[in-house]
Amino acid sequence: MAKTIESLMKEKRIFEPPKEVVEKSNIKKFMDAHGIKTIDELYKRAEDQEWFWGELAKELHWFKKWDKVVTGEAPYYRWFEGGKTNIAYNAIDRHVKNGKGDKIAYIWEGELGEVRKITYEEFYREVNKLANGLKSLGIKKGDKVGIYLPMIPELPIAMVACAKIGAVHSVVFSGFSAKALEDRLVDAECKALITADGYYRKGEPLNLKEKADEAVAASPLIEHVVVVRRLGDAISVNMVEGRDVWWDELVKDKPDECEAEVMDAGDLLFLMYTSGTTGKPKGVMHVHGGYQVAVSQTLRFVFDLKDDDVWWCAADIGWITGHSYIVYGPLILGVTSVLYEGAPTYPQPDRFWEIVEKYKVTVFYTSPTAIRLFMRFGEQWPKKHDLSSLRLLGTVGEPINPEAWIWYYEVIGGKRCPIMDTWWQTETGQFIITPLPVTPLKPGSATFPFPSLAAEVFDDEGHPVTGQGGKLVLTKPWPGMLVGLYKQKERYEQTYWSRFPGVYLAGDVARKDEDGYFWIQGRADDVLNVAGHRIGTAEVESALVSHPAVAEAAVVGKPDPIKGSSIQAFVILVEGAEPSDDLKKELVKHVSVEISPIARPDSIIFVPDLPKTRSGKIMRRVVASLVKGEDPGDVTTLRNPEVVDEVKKLIEEEKAREGR
Ligand code: PRX
Repeated sequence: MAKTIESLMKEKRIFEPPKEVVEKSNIKKFMDAHGIKTIDELYKRAEDQEWFWGELAKELHWFKKWDKVVTGEAPYYRWFEGGKTNIAYNAIDRHVKNGKGDKIAYIWEGELGEVRKITYEEFYREVNKLANGLKSLGIKKGDKVGIYLPMIPELPIAMVACAKIGAVHSVVFSGFSAKALEDRLVDAECKALITADGYYRKGEPLNLKEKADEAVAASPLIEHVVVVRRLGDAISVNMVEGRDVWWDELVKDKPDECEAEVMDAGDLLFLMYTSGTTGKPKGVMHVHGGYQVAVSQTLRFVFDLKDDDVWWCAADIGWITGHSYIVYGPLILGVTSVLYEGAPTYPQPDRFWEIVEKYKVTVFYTSPTAIRLFMRFGEQWPKKHDLSSLRLLGTVGEPINPEAWIWYYEVIGGKRCPIMDTWWQTETGQFIITPLPVTPLKPGSATFPFPSLAAEVFDDEGHPVTGQGGKLVLTKPWPGMLVGLYKQKERYEQTYWSRFPGVYLAGDVARKDEDGYFWIQGRADDVLNVAGHRIGTAEVESALVSHPAVAEAAVVGKPDPIKGSSIQAFVILVEGAEPSDDLKKELVKHVSVEISPIARPDSIIFVPDLPKTRSGKIMRRVVASLVKGEDPGDVTTLRNPEVVDEVKKLIEEEKAREGR
């Protein structure tokens, strides 16, 4: 990706926002209401976090108002301290009480074409029934509940039901393996799991319950498993007596009213596991108070959602994007969202555009990988559809190259829809660096920190720099911020707050140009961004070495025109193991089973040894430069410098084989 990113910095075109978009924007309305004349003045005024977020928090319901908007200090800021609230109340009860119950919350489309439209009132009743069902199983405030569901309405319903009774949800992406689910259930100490019999992917019914059973068998704290009937007769599942209950049977006789538990602003809402540079994935903790203000208000201003919009965030709820901007943000704003179960290209590459046309989607948000994939299929697919309902577009998850940006802008947006390139993370919970619909755009730049937030690019000494690469840091707190890593206090302080004390280290490399625009270039650490998914090289390596034939492994990213990075694994076999294509296939499968198909190496090279430091640490950096065809720099201090040429030769041989 490096070359494209360089060319991206040279992108000089500026796309001014359409006048009409600016005039009607929520941000303009907010400015008018506060007598703010210019956007510069808005950014200036918003530096007062107490005022800005205090104003926005008033849009939501609080059982008791907060004493202070933000207090404490890094790494333990506290937002809306003293406030009593419940995000579920804001997401649903409030709308039903305000007479908005008939509005559609979700238009769900299954992969096979089934459609379910759910109003706020229906959603509210389903949530309450499940909340009461969970209570009847003994789940109470503070208990952890695992959720392992595909993209069906029961997924947001389950999340909001947990929140309503003060239980903490931990959603695990349905594409994860049994082993990955087990790791997360065990670490989070989940008492119950909500899952489904299965779901459809590319037309095939997949058995989810089987994977859930395997994970639950190794998770001693799980007492109950609630199972959604999604496939019914299409597959057969095994229900364990006394442990498993069908969702429909659990909720059948439960009341459809349930009082929201009164939560402190700082009470835990959910855990979301994400990859780090070392060890197992870490449980990022988010809380009710600040998070609800953050996700709803950033969505309101960045994607400019209004009452008549149809919003489609085409991510999976199993990731933070879905938590914040399919579930909580849109529900709190009371908008109508599209929820799509399946693959973007099933049965044909125009499935997304068919959905946009059918439901008259007005604001659409996806990943650069998806855009590059659509680009490859060609513009004849979107051209078959009327996309004129679109007003604003967005991207997230990885840097977008200008070519893909322009294609998205012209072919999908018809040259009239500004593109919101939003930079944020599981940890930030909310958009951090992002345009507003009034921002002049530079293709490939996520532009500026959201009003009242602050970012810098630091050199190694911690000085802010402009026009050169450096470490992306956040220098002010933000309301959606994580409050820690579950059961890992030291890792939290160490990972994010120790490199530059008091300042949040994002883990990305970025540049700030002379106009103050931020250009995010990618991860600075041993985390790969593959198709917008965050994958720790250490995780893939440990999955590989858990195979009996593998002695050591190194995993690095290789630039990929569609996915951003692909996964390149280097493997040293144990004595007696024979390298073969079959073994490669077996190892790829092994990683799928240990983690998920998303972490599967795209290629494996068997090597006799790997470049190591004198203390025996594998030098991934050296391997990574070889993979990119770059000069690995000075390798004379390595314990085994001669290996560098050997590995290089093997990479070239592999390339020649691929080219054949
Ligand atoms: O490297 C950045 C990249 O995705 C990482 C965060 O990954 P995750 O926690 O899985 O959350 C993804 C969805 C919010 C970041 O450290 N990233 C995210 N958005 C962008 C991005 N890189 C460039 N541009 C973006 N807009």
